[in-house]
Amino acid sequence: MQIKENISLKAFNTFGIEAKAKYFTEVNNITEINSIIKNPIFKGSNFLLLGGGSNILLTKDFDGIVVKINNKGIEIEKVDSEFVYLKVQAGEVWEEFVNHCVHNNWGGVENLTLIPGNVGTCPVQNIGAYGVEVKDVIQSVEAIDIVNGETIVFSNEECKFGYRSSIFKNEAKDKYIITAVNFRLTKKPVFITHYGDVNKELEFMNVKPSIFHISKAIEAIRRRKLPDPKLKGNAGSFFKNPSISTAKYEELAAEFPRLRAFPSGDGYKLAAGWLIEKSGWKGKSLGNAVVHHKQALVLINKENASGKEILALAKAIQLEVFNLFGVDLEMEVNVI
Ligand code: EPU
Repeated sequence: MQIKENISLKAFNTFGIEAKAKYFTEVNNITEINSIIKNPIFKGSNFLLLGGGSNILLTKDFDGIVVKINNKGIEIEKVDSEFVYLKVQAGEVWEEFVNHCVHNNWGGVENLTLIPGNVGTCPVQNIGAYGVEVKDVIQSVEAIDIVNGETIVFSNEECKFGYRSSIFKNEAKDKYIITAVNFRLTKKPVFITHYGDVNKELEFMNVKPSIFHISKAIEAIRRRKLPDPKLKGNAGSFFKNPSISTAKYEELAAEFPRLRAFPSGDGYKLAAGWLIEKSGWKGKSLGNAVVHHKQALVLINKENASGKEILALAKAIQLEVFNLFGVDLEMEVNVI
């Protein structure tokens, strides 16, 4: 394990933002993870733990140590008549893990096809798409306590999962390094195809739902709607869909009959993409930062935008949406 100095992070964030890390290292196994947390440079610096870099916006050079978590491995822990139990190391790429499950016909993650990022970061923001959240298949999360090096296992319940949220975004933030995620996948899948255009896509493909076909359908929908981060730097949804009270929903629905909202908890969730589109920002740019013309929730690095330029666009959108609807748009992406 080598600690490098003054390293560009451009290749390590899907926005493709140029920013430098004072120190940078990659840890490839548990021994290296245990060793980095005892290293004097780590102990004496700010640190940033990095998985696939798909949910961060770097707005300046990082004056500390960036640790890229790279431990690999997918192991079958147990199989019974209904389920397959897997331990997956944090550095596995999420999409490769999904492909592995789809090809083995293990159900549960096919709706989460083509989400950028790594396995170790999927519980942090409880990734979700097309009617499934990763919390639905996570049994537990293994982590190392950064202060004392002890291993700790968080059960699904202890992870306190919520919409794009978990304990790792709140009280456990920066206290642990997630080393592995334990999944329970099913050999008798229940297909979830009601969300968005999934059923329509399956009909168009002229196929019956199966793990493989749902994965292919979602891949096709995502490729049409969402920009490929390899070609156009982005971090998926930049904002969360905001939760509002029923009273606020009724007030807005009366004023905007085409409002896109759905019941959630004891109130409603609004489609942030619709709010942004209505506020006039869809397809518009500010400097080199642009709002994707097919999905307004996604902000794109057009041509070597700085993180500050992307953040300025995000703030302009928040202001406009607040002025028009009186609703706060919360960022899903972590601004560093
Ligand atoms: N909409 C618009 N204009 C837009 C975008 C969306 O009017 O520019 C409307 C759509 O017509 C639809 C509604 O908003 O009626 C919802 O849109 P969509 O189904 O595309 O989903 P979303 O709520 O915008 C969420 C996730 C996505 C996930 C999709 C599909 C969040 C913040 N985003 O988007 O996740 O892929 O559902 O399940 O919850 C991500 O987190 O990075 C991500 C891409």
